[in-house]
Amino acid sequence: MRSFFIRTFGCQMNVHDSDRMAGLLEAAGLQAVDRAAEADLILINTCSVRAKPEHKALSEAGRHKQARRRRGAKVVLTGCVAQQHGARLLDTGLLDAVVGTDAVGRIGSIVERLARDERGVCDVRAHGPDSPCFAPLPARRGCGVSRLVTVMKGCDNHCAYCIVPLVRGCEVSKPLADVLAEVEALARAGAQEITLLGQNVNSYRDPESGTRFPGLLRALDRQAAVDRIRFTTSHPKDLGDDLIEAMAGLPRVCEHLHLALQSGSDEVLGRMRRGYSRQGFLDRARALRASVPGIALSTDLIVGFPGEREADFRATMDAVEEAAFDSAFSFKYSPRPGTPAARELEDDVPASVKQRRLETLQDLLARLEARSLARLEGRRLEVLVEGQSLRDPRAQTGRTRCNRVVNFASEGAAGETVCVRMAEARGHTLLGELLEVEPGCDSEK
Ligand code: SAH
Ligand code: SF4
Ligand code: F3S
Repeated sequence: MRSFFIRTFGCQMNVHDSDRMAGLLEAAGLQAVDRAAEADLILINTCSVRAKPEHKALSEAGRHKQARRRRGAKVVLTGCVAQQHGARLLDTGLLDAVVGTDAVGRIGSIVERLARDERGVCDVRAHGPDSPCFAPLPARRGCGVSRLVTVMKGCDNHCAYCIVPLVRGCEVSKPLADVLAEVEALARAGAQEITLLGQNVNSYRDPESGTRFPGLLRALDRQAAVDRIRFTTSHPKDLGDDLIEAMAGLPRVCEHLHLALQSGSDEVLGRMRRGYSRQGFLDRARALRASVPGIALSTDLIVGFPGEREADFRATMDAVEEAAFDSAFSFKYSPRPGTPAARELEDDVPASVKQRRLETLQDLLARLEARSLARLEGRRLEVLVEGQSLRDPRAQTGRTRCNRVVNFASEGAAGETVCVRMAEARGHTLLGELLEVEPGCDSEK
């Protein structure tokens, strides 16, 4: 086997896992190619958080039937669907291997087994003393300015609707010293910005010293290897004053927080087992905005959770308006096998009602996002250049510290930090003008 192609579904954790597998496969002498049609090895890294991405992943596997038959390409399912269903997936007859979420570090030896034409390869062993999931990995060549770093994995929260704890297992944190070493190595390879990843990143706890998440942020800020530190995703119930203080006080920590509200109704939040109330969430959001001026708040929302009445939905609309989210992802409830909600609660909100609520909510979210972008017009903000814009080869694209994408005409190179005047909001992004003379950017902190 000489070449590989990876198709990734799902969240940033999956994006990062794909990147780790690509690094390991390159280290084993395989070459990445841009099209599945040219690859000897096709990896499909899957997400099972809702029914739709799960189906997409399996139909993707079906697309490669001919490549397997005609040219002997190997098709491997990795990620959360693989972890969830395990060896049963081999019965579809579409796959050569099934590789679970904690087996990413073993992809090299799995591919060796495939190269020997071994059949029925399945590794869905969960993290444990003899199968660690945070094994050190080779740094990848040609990496970008903004990199992902997994600091913890798994989730102990068990929200009633969510399959993630079932597929990613319980919370495990990476030792702080290993995180620092990884960030140092990424910085040496050109990274200027890191995003710390975890399903529940703010419940991080260094297994050696017991240092909590704000302590990890302080250590990374002090280390000064990269200019910008981001993290995702945080759970509202673990957002203490110490984290707000760290965000306010540490210059490298960016002014953006993703904090999933899910619902604005206390009854629905209770049934979801989220562990906070509507008011508790709104108080945290207010404290954040007061301590970290200019902070952008993004969120996740679910409509049509079992038993959601019109009044509950209106409570969500009101809470969203009050929190004034800068951007959001919103979804229709999708029952997931093995979760408490699927077991105990009837999926009783009709599909047409879910659809109408989603559209109504998305209209509001679009208005809030447009307002948030318009507020930035005219401001001069620090932008980290990530590279050429995909839409316009004469333009560069980058992000503000509050995570807004800005496109602007420039000859500048990726990795430079420049000052850009925000000229105009366009859809989800901003058009900017590069300021030639350094007049100093407006502070976002
Ligand atoms: N750990 C993250 C969430 C990861 S899943 C957090 O708690 O913030 C990403 C989002 O998918 C969730 O926030 C939720 O809004 C949505 N989601 C999860 N399970 C879902 C389900 N069964 N149906 C619909 N949306 C769901
Ligand atoms: Fe899922 Fe809840 Fe854990 Fe997030 S906190 S991964 S929504 S169980
Ligand atoms: Fe999906 Fe797994 Fe991420 S279920 S959202 S890819 S942790």
